Amino acid sequence: MNKLVLVGIVFVTLLLGATFLMLGDGVGANDTMLQLGIAGAVAIAVISTFVSIKYIRQMQTDTASGELADENWDGIGEYKNEPPFGWAISFLALTIWAIWYMLAGYPVQSYSQIGEYNEEVAEHDKTFAATHANMDAATKVEMGESVFIVQCAPCHGLSADGIDGKAANLNKRLDAVAVKNAIIHGSNNHLLGSEMPMPDRNGLFNANSGALISDAEINAVSAYVSNGMSGSGADVFAGTCAGCHGSDGKGMAGVAPSIANYNPELVSNILAYGKKGAMGTMPSFNNLNKTQIEALGAYVTSLSSK
Ligand code: HEC
Ligand code: HEC
Repeated sequence: MNKLVLVGIVFVTLLLGATFLMLGDGVGANDTMLQLGIAGAVAIAVISTFVSIKYIRQMQTDTASGELADENWDGIGEYKNEPPFGWAISFLALTIWAIWYMLAGYPVQSYSQIGEYNEEVAEHDKTFAATHANMDAATKVEMGESVFIVQCAPCHGLSADGIDGKAANLNKRLDAVAVKNAIIHGSNNHLLGSEMPMPDRNGLFNANSGALISDAEINAVSAYVSNGMSGSGADVFAGTCAGCHGSDGKGMAGVAPSIANYNPELVSNILAYGKKGAMGTMPSFNNLNKTQIEALGAYVTSLSSK
């Protein structure tokens, strides 16, 4: 027997011996998968060892044959062998494919992971919208509440009270500070969904007194609005604000938003554009789909109209 084969047998025996030692009690277990695995390990060890031996032996005994090229570098020459047929075919095919891919394939089928993600999200949103197309009002509010807990409660609090002034208290349309801020500085928050600013105090006339709104009037009307459109200040509201916000404060389409209550359109505009006010900055949200925005609108609207 050849010395190399002997080494191979010893090597395989050691390899399998170590495997059996590591398996321990498992070897005898009545487990078909395990026995299949062991058979596989034996086959891999035996085949790879003896195939290696075949090539090692070939390297030891092979003598080169063929016609040498004329060039010779310090005694090292080059044979004029034909390239192997399979290799030549693959090389040719790959070259053609590479040219096609550079010129036509990539630009046409350019793959974009972001594009695929967007497509999948759009696809999901479509099914989501279809599934929830006919939600009744109560279910909508419920969905709004669960989105709110995840997306909004970190700032607005679980009960939407604004966590001691961290964000707006949504159980109430506006507090006096917010109204005063809007009157003094104006407002430009796309609350109607488009650029439609409210003028600052230098553009607010009281039709009843025929003069620019005064500090006392600002305080009075702020209290009136934040009290849910009641109390003193009604005359200032009628003279200064009602022309745009309507006599009940509920707004007029395309002119001014409601400052008496929330409505789903107002909420969805605030979500789309964010809002800067007396309290701070409310971020815009572009990660919500249409159904979720409508649900949040229903939920926020329901809070202050309870
Ligand atoms: C010329 C029309 C006009 C007049 C007059 C007017 N407003 Fe406005 N108001 C608007 C518009 C438009 C907006 C929305 C601006 C925006 O997109 O931020 C607005 C926004 C507001 C807001 C902000 C609401 C929020 O959620 O932040 C408050 C508060 C407000 N108005 C109160 C008043 C009061 C009180 C008066 C009267 C003293 C008044 N407005 C007079 C047009 C007007
Ligand atoms: C990073 C904190 C933060 C998050 C998150 C947040 N908000 Fe706000 N939100 C604010 C702040 C601050 C204000 C007050 C802005 C101002 O001063 O007018 C506000 C104001 C609002 C207002 C307007 C209140 C008013 O009358 O002026 C609405 C409506 C609102 N948020 C709804 C939501 C909803 C719905 C979500 C969840 C999708 C949400 N917010 C998430 C911080 C946040």
